[in-house]
Amino acid sequence: MPTPVRDQFQRTLHDLRISVTDRCNFRCPYCMPKEVFGPGYPFLHDPQLMTLAELTRIVAAFRALGVEKVRITGGEPLLRADVPELVRTLKQELGVPDVALTTNGWLLEKLAPALRAAGLDRLNVSVDSLDDTTAGKLNGLGFSVARVLRGIDAAAAIGLPIKINCVVQRGVNDHELPALCDYFRARGHPLRFIEFMDVGNTNHWTRDRVVPAKEIVERIGAVWTLDPIGPAYRGEVAARYRYRDGRGEIGLIGSVTEPFCRDCHRARLSADGKLFTCLFASLGWDVLGALRAGAEGVELENFLARIWRGRLDRYSDERAELLAKGESRAKVEMSYIGG
Ligand code: GTP
Ligand code: 5AD
Ligand code: SF4
Ligand code: SF4
Repeated sequence: MPTPVRDQFQRTLHDLRISVTDRCNFRCPYCMPKEVFGPGYPFLHDPQLMTLAELTRIVAAFRALGVEKVRITGGEPLLRADVPELVRTLKQELGVPDVALTTNGWLLEKLAPALRAAGLDRLNVSVDSLDDTTAGKLNGLGFSVARVLRGIDAAAAIGLPIKINCVVQRGVNDHELPALCDYFRARGHPLRFIEFMDVGNTNHWTRDRVVPAKEIVERIGAVWTLDPIGPAYRGEVAARYRYRDGRGEIGLIGSVTEPFCRDCHRARLSADGKLFTCLFASLGWDVLGALRAGAEGVELENFLARIWRGRLDRYSDERAELLAKGESRAKVEMSYIGG
């Protein structure tokens, strides 16, 4: 067992979230508003992206520092053709116990079998609305939600465990809470409601559009009796509740009103190989650059360990204070850093 590396608040390094591409086939206004991420947007290009071989060496260094869970994200990770191969490498070559992927589900019907065969442990799929008009607005391109739901069914049918993520915005999709609960509990998928967050610099976040986690629980609790249950693992971002009738569970990711920085043990790697120690960071550390300059094995591990040991991030804990002071900082975009 590797000796755990601890940051300035004694948080260990346990999860790695890897963004494999900054591109997406959706344009959710809360993440990649199409006026900003349109033609001419400076997306990353090939030599800037980590190759599979480079990713393997970087993840091996993280494994040596205690990383046990790897989540593949984007942008939309399934746009990258070598993702099943990456999953296979993470499972077979690097022995990562928990390999998960977060997707918008658009390509899932086609790709679920390859992901399953490669050894993927589980999937998180975003569904913000079951109504095509609202779903079309929320994916920015008018796409129907039916294809995403077919992808979820296809993945479930071959045994992939799935959680559903739903970003809740007041006046946009919050009227659909009971319908979403109904649909996903009937199918046995835990549904997590995420508070709309002030990620990036372009998503027009306002505090009044956030529906607090507590209010979501009260509104759903008025329809079905809910009982709180403990986290599935230490540092889980979602607070979980079970329906008293025994049919399913929901989770609340309350990054704005109930921040969880105290237990945050997640590192994030952007598609161009920069290490970010917080979702709301402004700058990343150039791990790929170090690798390409010749750092390998122990040298790379020491580089990563030094960064983690110096870590002081707790943005969500500090948010209220920063906003009250009127302070704003340039943050990285979520599509680049990987949620
Ligand atoms: P599980 O392992 O299934 O619990 O996954 P997860 O919830 O960590 O991952 P997922 O990609 O499904 O993320 C769900 C939501 O939680 C997204 O909106 C993420 O941005 C948010 N989230 C995950 N980790 C963090 C974090 O460290 N800080 C903040 N503020 N939000 C996070
Ligand atoms: N606030 C909250 N969640 C967001 N996501 C993307 N942008 C935001 C935001 N501004 C969610 C996606 C996906 C997860 C990885 O992050 O919907 O489920
Ligand atoms: Fe794409 Fe996910 Fe961002 Fe929507 S939230 S634009 S699906 S990366
Ligand atoms: Fe971790 Fe930063 Fe999110 Fe806090 S705001 S939980 S430190 S990623």
